[in-house]
Amino acid sequence: MDYFRIVGGKRLRGTVEVSGAKNAALPIMAASILCDGEVTLHNVPDLADVRTMETLLNQLGVSTSWDGPGTLHLKVEDEMNCHADYELVRRMRASVCVMGPLLAKRHKAQVSMPGGCAIGDRPIDLHVNGLSALGADADLVSGDVNLRAKHLVGTELFLGGPFGSSVTATANVLMAATLADGRTVIESAACEPEVTDLANFLNACGAQITGHGSPRITIDGVKNLHGCVYSIIPDRIETGTFIIAAAITNGEVRVRSARLEHLLAMVDRLRAVGVNIEREGDDVVVSSARRLEPTTITTQPFPGFPTDLQAQMMALLCLADGNSIITEKIYPDRFMHVAELNRLGAHLRKEGPTVIIEGVKRLVGAPVMASDLRASAALVLAGLVAKGETLVNRVYHIDRGYEKIERRLRALGADIERLNRATED
Ligand code: EPZ
Repeated sequence: MDYFRIVGGKRLRGTVEVSGAKNAALPIMAASILCDGEVTLHNVPDLADVRTMETLLNQLGVSTSWDGPGTLHLKVEDEMNCHADYELVRRMRASVCVMGPLLAKRHKAQVSMPGGCAIGDRPIDLHVNGLSALGADADLVSGDVNLRAKHLVGTELFLGGPFGSSVTATANVLMAATLADGRTVIESAACEPEVTDLANFLNACGAQITGHGSPRITIDGVKNLHGCVYSIIPDRIETGTFIIAAAITNGEVRVRSARLEHLLAMVDRLRAVGVNIEREGDDVVVSSARRLEPTTITTQPFPGFPTDLQAQMMALLCLADGNSIITEKIYPDRFMHVAELNRLGAHLRKEGPTVIIEGVKRLVGAPVMASDLRASAALVLAGLVAKGETLVNRVYHIDRGYEKIERRLRALGADIERLNRATED
């Protein structure tokens, strides 16, 4: 089992390039099911989750091949199999993104319910309700959602849930509506840049989508979609993670291909606590004051503060000069990193969906356990600044969403290495 050994105290300096966005690449790969003809994607990150989606698509009759780093070719060869089974879905919730394309193109989809995970429940009621509104019949058999529809009919539908909009539910309904008869209007659609990137990809394949990036998306159905060549946007969560890495180590880092317009809520909070973030063309140069000010943060759907940067921000605020508060409005239980950060000497107290962060002068290295993708990133960030040695176990979580992160941090001067122990920890 791989783990990271980090010796804290190095101030990061240098330049880092951001990879393609995982949460854009995954639904766009799934959308290839809709296309007659070859799809070529550039800037695809080489991540465990991307490989899992590739395996799922191969099982669903889509041939895939890599053409050098970052370029992936996809082409539908066989439309027989419409079943995304539990083994793959339980490993990666984003597998649910094949539901809309399978239903629209093959008129049926059998997808395992994702179940829960470390960040909380992962229901898919909004996905099923949205696809049912387009005319699908849905039932639940042995943990699988079975959807069938001879043809889908456009309609006006509301997709908001108890926690606001849903990113992948919007993706599923958006993809299905591209081949529906007539016009579909999605009210309370997710506005995340990854949804916008998916819509831009679908339009490049001949879809008729407008309003993407706003809470109201309009789709006029077409008869079919052709293939295309498309480049995935940079990963805003990886960008934010590297910006916080520069800030927490009081370093000075240039982040290439950083689309700051995708991160304005985070930039607003970082500047408020004393982090200097200067845009230079497509790059961003980050440095920070020795001691940061505390602040208050609430996670929201885009354009609000992203839940996927909540844990990383918490790591930074552990060392602020005063008390900060973080409230999690998207996944109220997304706090597996709290106990682990406290092992490093942080003073964090969870009260329901809120964590009170009492700033401390320093963190002290220790063995810690990663639990989910973004919590792992927070533990790595804390290890970069903790005094002495930090061992981050179960780094397979971090490999799901960050490409070779230890090599890129080491290139910035971090003392971090990947080691392996034969035993399960
Ligand atoms: C996407 O997950 C991202 N994953 C998540 O990133 C991200 O944390 C999340 O959006 C929120 O931004 C991908 O895009 C592959 P949601 P998704 O549906 O679509 C509730 C990462 O670290 N909800 O927007 O599954 C849900 O419980 C991952 O890269 C329903 O109630 O999230 C949550 O509270 C982790 N019913 C809220 O909505 C539904 O049918 C937002 O979930 C669907 C969701």
